[in-house]
Amino acid sequence: MTDTKPALPERPYFSSGPCAKPPGYSPEKLATTSLGRSHRAKIGKTRLQYCIDLMREVLQLPDTHRIGIVPGSDTGAFEMAMWTMLGARGVTTMAWESFGEGWVTDAAKQLKLDPTVIRADYGQLPDLSQVNFADDVLFTWNGTTSGVRVPNADWIPADREGLTFADATSAVFAYDIDWSKIDVATFSWQKVLGGEGGHGVLILGPRAVERLESYTPAWPLPKVFRLVSKGQLAEGVFKGETINTPSMLAVEDAIFALEWAKGLANGQSALKGLQARSDANAAALDAIVQSRPWLSHLCADEAIRSKTSVCLSVEGADADFIKAFAGALEKEGAAFDIAGYRDAPAGLRIWCGATVDTADIEALGPWLDWAYASLKN
Ligand SMILES: Cc1ncc(COP(=O)(O)O)c(C=O)c1O
Repeated sequence: MTDTKPALPERPYFSSGPCAKPPGYSPEKLATTSLGRSHRAKIGKTRLQYCIDLMREVLQLPDTHRIGIVPGSDTGAFEMAMWTMLGARGVTTMAWESFGEGWVTDAAKQLKLDPTVIRADYGQLPDLSQVNFADDVLFTWNGTTSGVRVPNADWIPADREGLTFADATSAVFAYDIDWSKIDVATFSWQKVLGGEGGHGVLILGPRAVERLESYTPAWPLPKVFRLVSKGQLAEGVFKGETINTPSMLAVEDAIFALEWAKGLANGQSALKGLQARSDANAAALDAIVQSRPWLSHLCADEAIRSKTSVCLSVEGADADFIKAFAGALEKEGAAFDIAGYRDAPAGLRIWCGATVDTADIEALGPWLDWAYASLKN
């Protein structure tokens, strides 16, 4: 290993989930009056409703869409939507990385829906104009393991027949989302907010609610997936009356992050404040990539390149090289968790979401050089 070492990033947390905590976070700062109490007591319900209200405000979610807290992190929320709404019409699932593939597997092998599958390789986006919107359409807004995202929602017609299901876990709070094009969206606090996993967030547009109230799937639904009671949407779920017991500690943690986000508004909106941080981080990382011939983006096209989970290729690197590279940086306390996802092509993945400080991305550059030079020697 090379002897001269650069200055360490202040917070070397670059994991793509769970992601870095918001700057200034410490567990002592969390409100704890709801802990050790029933989540159905007034205090519990008030905090759950407050968390929902903050999410709506920071996301700028229109009144047309409901937002609720459900079990099972993003996976739980997305599978709840799949299991409760699919089967009413044809299904198209899109995949350009591992998580999208997961939803293809669910639709094809578990629900046996014989979906139309539209795929692209890591680093690419499929031709979105191929999509038949007579079907229900499932996609991942930001593919966390390839760093490829949809550019916007312009490819989704306003007069679609089917529903759109967006796994937006590493997209919400980082990009503008045209909610009129989204019938179902899901995310988890553990990504852009730097919150905890465990709970998912389910967003339902009016057409999704209509589907839930008019269609009963052919398969049995476990209690944690049930969103309908006596033919009516369980509205309580969208007011903090969770299906089962939530972690109030995770809720308080999310409230901390959302209040931090509100503090970023700076005369604009909290959403713009969050987006500006992630844009600045992605630009700082891009500057690092552009000035090093041995580093490149897995996603060559900037218009569809992630601003949160940025995936990089290292010239000549195989999985062992990446393991040693990321391991050396972790040992030095310079960067945690930057090896690419296990199913993705060997490379680095550096989270640029809002909770990461741009100065820390900048400080990472010389450390990437250090690890590269050290391993090449
Ligand atoms: C796009 C995408 N979908 C789903 C998941 C699974 O999320 P969770 O572990 O919160 O259920 C992840 C996690 O990284 C993800 O990036």
